[in-house]
Amino acid sequence: MCGIVGAVAQRDVVGVLTEGLRRLEYRGYDSCGVAVLQHGAPRRVRSVERVANLADQVQEASLSGTIGVAHTRWATHGAPVTDNAHPIFSRDEIALVHNGIIENHEPLRDELKALGYVFESDTDTEVIAHLIHHTREQDPSRDLLTAVQRALQRLRGAYAIAVFAKNEPDRVIGARAGSPLVIGVGERGNYLASDAMALSGTAEHFIFLEEGDIAVLSCDGVHIVDRDGATVRREVQAQHTSHYAAELGPYRHYMQKEIFEQPDVVADATERVRSITPALFGPNAQRAFSEIDSLLLLACGTSYYSALTAKYWLESIAGIPTQVEIASEYRYRESVVNPCAMVVVVSQSGETADTLAALKHAQELGHHHTLAICNVPHSSMMRLTELQYLTGAGPEIGVASTKAFTTQLVALFLLALTLGKERGHVSADDEARALRQLHHLPAALNSVLALEPQIVSWAEALARKDHALFLGRGVHYPIALEGALKLKEISYVHAEAYPAGELKHGPLAIVTNEMPVITIAPNDALLEKLKSNIQEVRARGGQLYVLADAGTKIESRDGVRVIQLPEHYGPLSPILHVVPLQLLAYHTACARGTDVDKPRNLAKSVTVE
Ligand code: G6P
Repeated sequence: MCGIVGAVAQRDVVGVLTEGLRRLEYRGYDSCGVAVLQHGAPRRVRSVERVANLADQVQEASLSGTIGVAHTRWATHGAPVTDNAHPIFSRDEIALVHNGIIENHEPLRDELKALGYVFESDTDTEVIAHLIHHTREQDPSRDLLTAVQRALQRLRGAYAIAVFAKNEPDRVIGARAGSPLVIGVGERGNYLASDAMALSGTAEHFIFLEEGDIAVLSCDGVHIVDRDGATVRREVQAQHTSHYAAELGPYRHYMQKEIFEQPDVVADATERVRSITPALFGPNAQRAFSEIDSLLLLACGTSYYSALTAKYWLESIAGIPTQVEIASEYRYRESVVNPCAMVVVVSQSGETADTLAALKHAQELGHHHTLAICNVPHSSMMRLTELQYLTGAGPEIGVASTKAFTTQLVALFLLALTLGKERGHVSADDEARALRQLHHLPAALNSVLALEPQIVSWAEALARKDHALFLGRGVHYPIALEGALKLKEISYVHAEAYPAGELKHGPLAIVTNEMPVITIAPNDALLEKLKSNIQEVRARGGQLYVLADAGTKIESRDGVRVIQLPEHYGPLSPILHVVPLQLLAYHTACARGTDVDKPRNLAKSVTVE
């Protein structure tokens, strides 16, 4: 979704701004822009093309300056056209970029129009720019910080902004209320961005702003005030460097790179685990785990499917009642609160608006035991929860989540083992066996990745279809859901997933000899039931694509294609079976020529409702 970069330095900042936007591209955007203060006035270049085109236009326009702001926009209010792209100006005196949504923009717009402001865009953002301009006009000191403080008091909604003014050529102001903003502290300048990754290579130390903070950046330093206007000091933290650099390397797409990184990131997550202990979830986990009687897992998208998978583990391994709910549903429904239930938010980014709001909602309802399972260390969810587990997958650039999912599954499996051990359901032998399996997972993942050529041949057939049905049972049902999600997200093939036992209750009606039915068939306790479901599909002419594993004993024949995973992996089998489904979606998308890493209409981090 939208991305912000801002800079003030003793040198031209245009390169930092456009490079920052390039690093934010993965989040998804439909327009972009840069503004700097040049020869005493704000100048901007905006584009509905890619950041690379914007950078060319910036060069052609000879844009340069020592302060500036830049933005990638994912349209909410107003179509993705140049006039709606940020930076937004007010009377050529204020330049502003904004992430988030201003809920009361309509009455403010009417008020500002009545004051003579002419709106040039359909955005809610323009309201903020004019409001700051107007507030500044009212103040004899013409101080930008004061104007920003006063203007923001009138806004309702969640946002982060970066702004500069014509008459204050030495500063950029950033503010955060509901959307993340991070300051990059440099030697010859200071920077801000909605995501620290935008500033990697530019700054080595970071300040993560708190809710309500307003930061004034100049070359000399960073001055931060809190929502009450009091000067505050925020911790300066050294950059968290991940060795899974956000560079593409030899791969065709980030998604492909991230699928193939899974053995390594899973190794990182499992090798450090030598015994199952609550300390895996932070120093306060032991006490918190002893005080809970159930779990409530909240998440969106792919993270929701890892939570759904975990329900099977948590109830069977730990014997702890577990509810899983889509965050956007939970936050708006009346629920029965059990204060002894630990709320677990599962999120790659830690910033997904609905999951964050669901967490806050749960806390307001009285849930004081909370845990974030998250891939971004200083994210909002990591900062709002009692316990934290960092999945450590490194930057995930492809919009369709892959390695973040598998590392979430590892984290949730560890949670099940930990709670199981604490509750006396996991013996020392069980623990030793589970650790052996976890430590062998990277090797097992590598042997699944080696099946890629066979999956490519499935993808070639699937790419010619408009619909697909995914089936799974038990702990593999959420994996079928994830496989269907991956396929529709990036190849735009309509896909649905069902628990195979539900076939006769509806989906059989759409099975014809045109329908590919991708079936997850591990050699587990439900295999015989699943084989009957497979017969039901075949009898209607459905084209079966079966992901079997050692001992499944399903042979390829007319209308039945089988890929056999080398090992059956017991309870951890979902982590292996999801990989061919990721590859299937990836190669189907490649065969259909879609924009794999930036699928249409989707964003990596959905920071607005
Ligand atoms: C978006 C992304 C998905 C992701 C979901 C939840 O829809 O495109 O890949 O699963 O958000 O994001 P989170 O960061 O909370 O895991």
